[in-house]
Amino acid sequence: MSIQLPSTPTRSTEDLEARQTLLAENGEPSSHSTTPDHTSMAPDRAVDGAKAKGDSIAGTIVLASVAFLTLSTWITIFTHNPSALGWFAPHPLFQTLGLSAITYGIYTLQPTSFANPQAKASGLTRHQVVIFCLGFPALLMGTWSIWHNKSIHDKPHITTWHGTFGIVCIAWLLFQVFLGAGSVWFKGALFGGGMKAKGVWKYHRLSGYILFPLFFTTIHLGGAWSDWAVAVIPYAVRFPVYTVVPALVVVGTFWRMRTSKMKFF
Ligand code: HEM
Repeated sequence: MSIQLPSTPTRSTEDLEARQTLLAENGEPSSHSTTPDHTSMAPDRAVDGAKAKGDSIAGTIVLASVAFLTLSTWITIFTHNPSALGWFAPHPLFQTLGLSAITYGIYTLQPTSFANPQAKASGLTRHQVVIFCLGFPALLMGTWSIWHNKSIHDKPHITTWHGTFGIVCIAWLLFQVFLGAGSVWFKGALFGGGMKAKGVWKYHRLSGYILFPLFFTTIHLGGAWSDWAVAVIPYAVRFPVYTVVPALVVVGTFWRMRTSKMKFF
């Protein structure tokens, strides 16, 4: 059965074409067709087939680990008299929620569907929605809450490695969102559109893969080594939750990364 495409591009097909161009694997704009070309996609499918099983296991580990990390943190806060914790309480809650959203946002864009441009385009939509509407605001809120908590208690700011990594990650995140949004929104008009915007997207991707482990190092430092964590969470819990599990999220996410998308020369 053949699928009839409209002869004049509609708003959504134009949008899809712009996204396909951005998401093309090899620096060349991808096909203008909105349906997969089954002949030219054959090698990609082979790659996909070989990698699919490992990707799928790694993806399950990533999502289960980040969910476990978030749930454990929320349980810890809600079982330690959160109202007495004041403005500290929202900090671990929002930070773990925000990083869950960012983890899912990366996961959903990773190459589970090389042969399907439509799936890639909807992956990009999910990436933007979940990160821009949930992950980014949650991380800003969580950072504001700890900052505010210290300010109202006249405590000095950024006194630990956790705080230093945290504030660097948040500053970097602003830059990361700027690069990502600028290269996709309004067809990448901010960076000159088309291939120019696609060039910037490559840096967004590289920068994201550096920022991601830094975020999980921050979680590790706060959850395993901050004074509060050491005081209230036993080591037997801190070690798996804030050392092993963050490492699993990062390793699983890097497993699913495609270096073929990282060509800079
Ligand atoms: C990636 C997520 C996180 C980021 C970006 C982050 C960021 C920060 C920042 C910037 C500070 C310093 C605030 C200031 O000095 O005014 C801070 C402090 C703190 N955070 Fe986090 N945090 C994260 C996750 C967590 C988690 C999951 C926990 C606990 C389970 C936690 C516990 C603490 C504690 C106890 C402090 C106060 C002591 C200190 O400054 O190290 N954080 N965080």
